Amino acid sequence: MINKIHNGDCIALIKELKDESIDLTFTSPPYGANVEYDTWEDDIVGNKILIKGLAQNLFPKMKIDGRVALNIAPKVINTKERYPLFLELCNSFIAAGFMFMDIVVWDRGNNGSIAWGIWDSSQFPNTIGACELIVLFAKGQYNKLNKQGPTMSHKEFLEIIDNIWHISPEFNKNHPAVFPLKLALNAIKLWSYPGDIVLDPFCGTGTTCLAAERLDRKWIGFEISPNYCKIAVKTLEYECSQLRLF
Ligand SMILES: C[S@@+](CC[C@H](N)C(=O)[O-])C[C@H]1O[C@@H](n2cnc3c(N)ncnc32)[C@H](O)[C@@H]1O
Repeated sequence: MINKIHNGDCIALIKELKDESIDLTFTSPPYGANVEYDTWEDDIVGNKILIKGLAQNLFPKMKIDGRVALNIAPKVINTKERYPLFLELCNSFIAAGFMFMDIVVWDRGNNGSIAWGIWDSSQFPNTIGACELIVLFAKGQYNKLNKQGPTMSHKEFLEIIDNIWHISPEFNKNHPAVFPLKLALNAIKLWSYPGDIVLDPFCGTGTTCLAAERLDRKWIGFEISPNYCKIAVKTLEYECSQLRLF
């Protein structure tokens, strides 16, 4: 399964992974915010089931010193309700056996992408979604079993050890909710070693896999949409062919 993008439902595909084989899972699950994905119905009810299934099925597949980092919005709004998805996510992961480890705030900058509620009044305010979270869990212990280091330059370390990452959002005409490559690069650098296996169960256009490839990690991507899969495969094939040229 290594260094490949796989098309299918991630819960079924996770079951095919070897137990205790994954060092880092880095992903952004659907938020249940009615985003128009290709094949996935992005509602809150389905989302809760998906997150719970993800936590339970992922637990046995992570190495004992493995980590799971999840990028989510702190607040999800759909037509009927405002919903703290990160709470549900934390509860599901802790119930599945994971230990909470850390939170990073992703400062996307104020791009005004979310509705403001009612202007110039406290009647029905709605803060702009200028930040998202990356919630980190450990499976059995906080530290890596084998001591290695340095695994990055001191300058890189200083940039990412601060728990606010200032990174502009990414927009892609082929996918409604990609994250920037820099977000994945930071996460993989901070929470895994070179040579580790990085999994993205909702890999979309393959951003995490691309970052893992660039940082000399092994990678596995799962994606339910055949269309997004094709984009991810193309991106990774191009990256690997370029690497072979040098
Ligand atoms: C927030 S997007 C991830 C985008 C990705 N980080 C990128 O940069 O391209 C979530 C992705 O999960 C996919 N997805 C939804 N349900 C899934 C499932 N059960 N199994 C696998 N992928 C799923 C969606 O099609 C969507 O591409």
